[in-house]
Amino acid sequence: MNAHKIVVIGSINMDLVTSSPRFPKPGETLLGTGFHQYMGGKGANQAVAAARLGAEVSLIGAVGSDHFGQALLDNLRKEHVNTDAVRIIQDRPSGMANITVAEGDNHIIVVSGANFSLTPTDIHNEEQRIANADVVMAQLETPLDTVIAGAELAKKYSKPFILNPAPAQKLPQELINLTSILTPNAYELAISLGLSENLSPEEMLRQSPCQVVMTLGSKGALFNDETGAQYSQPSFTVTPVDTTGAGDTFNGALAVFLKQGLHEAVKKACAAAAISVTRPGAQGGMPLYKELEAFLTKQ
Ligand code: RIB
Repeated sequence: MNAHKIVVIGSINMDLVTSSPRFPKPGETLLGTGFHQYMGGKGANQAVAAARLGAEVSLIGAVGSDHFGQALLDNLRKEHVNTDAVRIIQDRPSGMANITVAEGDNHIIVVSGANFSLTPTDIHNEEQRIANADVVMAQLETPLDTVIAGAELAKKYSKPFILNPAPAQKLPQELINLTSILTPNAYELAISLGLSENLSPEEMLRQSPCQVVMTLGSKGALFNDETGAQYSQPSFTVTPVDTTGAGDTFNGALAVFLKQGLHEAVKKACAAAAISVTRPGAQGGMPLYKELEAFLTKQ
């Protein structure tokens, strides 16, 4: 049987991660407890998550012509992600994320670097790749017109287009119309669609003009189908070590299992995300297919 083909359009970052007993207040200097360098970027993370679960994954992205860029490319190849459509941008630094992990949560500041050199032309150059895909997915760490170009090609070839609207920004109606499934958390949904942040998740979903799978952290996920009917998927109980990349793991798994129907895909995405937070680093805890199966069997 042919593997499920997924095309990810997205960012590739080096994550510089500091662990701290708590988050510093503005102007405060704290002594941290550890520092690590991990492979990250929402696009790369989604790609690795999907590849570990058995999909045939191509990433359309960009890295700089620096040491980080080479390390990021090497990692993607080691994870069996096809990097033929990753451009190396001369004289630009690779994307970088400054991450603080504390209090069971994280703060992230991304400096986009080469990720913002990814253009609509880069996407059009990969039209055949998108035409051959089963699912196309993107996030918002690359320019919006580049994401829209990907969504347009996905539409042209009737491929499901999954958009993780992170980091949050107000989405143009054009992109909402091109999106098959939007995968925000509650805050991102409010910003993406211009809704009040005070609405309940159920009310936000009711007001959404498109199909949404909303991630609710330790509360699992809430989603609607084409008819607007709402469903919830409880989370799986684990002891979190590092929640960085949990959303990316969720998205990667959702794309892989979409062919099994939305309910099954959301359940497996919640399980994959739960496993992912039990090890450090955005990609460190992403499960292989057999680990996901074993985890679900034990529930
Ligand atoms: O979603 C987690 C990711 O966000 C990190 O890997 C970091 O690079 C930022 O893109």
